[in-house]
Amino acid sequence: MITGGKPLFGEVTVSGAKNAAVAIIPGVVLCDEPCRIENIPNISDVTVIANILRDLGAMVRRVDKNTLDIDPRPIQTYKATEDSVRKMRASYYLLGALLGRFHKAKVALPGGCNFGVRPIDQHLKGFQLMGAKNDLINGAIIELDASESFHGARIYFDTVSVGSTINVMLAAVKAEGQTIIENAAKEPHIVDLANFLNSMGANIRGAGTDVIKIRGVEYLHGVTYSIIPDQIEAGTYMAAAAATRGRITVRNITPKHLESISSKLCEMGCEIDEYDEAVIIDATKRPLNRVNIKTMPHPGFPTDCQPQFVALLTTVKGTSIVNESVWDNRYQYVSELVRMGANISVEGRLAIIEGGHLTAAPVKATDLRAGAAMLIAGLVADGTTSISNISYIERGYSDVVTKFQSLGADIKKVYFPDDGAAATTA
Ligand code: EPZ
Repeated sequence: MITGGKPLFGEVTVSGAKNAAVAIIPGVVLCDEPCRIENIPNISDVTVIANILRDLGAMVRRVDKNTLDIDPRPIQTYKATEDSVRKMRASYYLLGALLGRFHKAKVALPGGCNFGVRPIDQHLKGFQLMGAKNDLINGAIIELDASESFHGARIYFDTVSVGSTINVMLAAVKAEGQTIIENAAKEPHIVDLANFLNSMGANIRGAGTDVIKIRGVEYLHGVTYSIIPDQIEAGTYMAAAAATRGRITVRNITPKHLESISSKLCEMGCEIDEYDEAVIIDATKRPLNRVNIKTMPHPGFPTDCQPQFVALLTTVKGTSIVNESVWDNRYQYVSELVRMGANISVEGRLAIIEGGHLTAAPVKATDLRAGAAMLIAGLVADGTTSISNISYIERGYSDVVTKFQSLGADIKKVYFPDDGAAATTA
């Protein structure tokens, strides 16, 4: 429940990057010794992937809410087909990790997200070039078998794909010979995964560029590794500060990872001061101007901040145009914003936004970043907005209610028991 109209002021500390954590934790499967992973975000996706590793036989101990000790040595199976695997998209990284360790993998296909088809043809193209035969078992389970021959390969991705780049990197770190990935994705979490694998003794060069070269190694030793901060979480809080015309300090971030987000906010008229591990965004000085945004693979404007910035642009006078060039159907949340009075029309990959006034309404989160967009809209709208299905938001934003409360937002989490008993506040 959010009562809007209050500018955000204060400080927020960003947690570890979700999209790095859900790649690095499966990456521990490849290790020959126990590892400690630090700065893990306290989100349900991490709980799911940790439990999947436990189901495989790994010893997983939660040292504190942001640290896991994982011993992968007891894992004896290459099959991850429990229902829990379907719950989360990123469980497909187990294909690369299990194939890399056992030269075989059998993984239940993850559930889609609510914004269009989530193909894995490029993942499979990479695995096939490395010698794996693949089967789709009754449309729900992928089985890879490279037991006859498993080796490095030269792989040119038809489309820039974060998941494919990560999955092939995981499979390649122990594969015989050299793997070259061309047209690779360059997101910060790709670089973080490569740094983690190299710290265990892998041989990966070029992560963060279009060409990544991997030489297979025999043995990976245990490490203690700390995950990078989440630039998408940071961008979400910055969009909220701009939407409410506030001034906040975002701590524990790498400003370089935020460049496209910060420059867009400056173009709108916000003032951004960058420090080593923090930024201050000030949207109190002047009216914000409309802008156009085109989402692109990193280092372009991240698609994972598209919904949040559309919500921000509904508060800015004039006509803004957003072009979602990565996903073909990532505007389903717009209908929820329109219920709050937003003036947005969607034409294919384009959203045309007329700045105006938002009023509170009961809305729902349709996926993780859409939920964040509804939260931002609620912070601005007149009246009290209720957002349901907030489990989507909690999949990717740790302690989100507490963090926004610490910035002065009038937000609380309310439980409505199924049996219709009185609602209780968290
Ligand atoms: C990752 O998804 C992220 N998820 C997404 O973030 C993010 O939106 C996306 O990268 C782009 O940055 C995780 O990291 C867990 P892609 P991923 O493969 O890897 C097409 C969030 O909010 N494609 O880079 O699935 C695909 O259809 C989530 O945190 C193929 O055609 O994205 C899309 O149009 C949502 N064939 C484009 O590539 C393939 O085999 C980019 O997809 C794979 C992808």
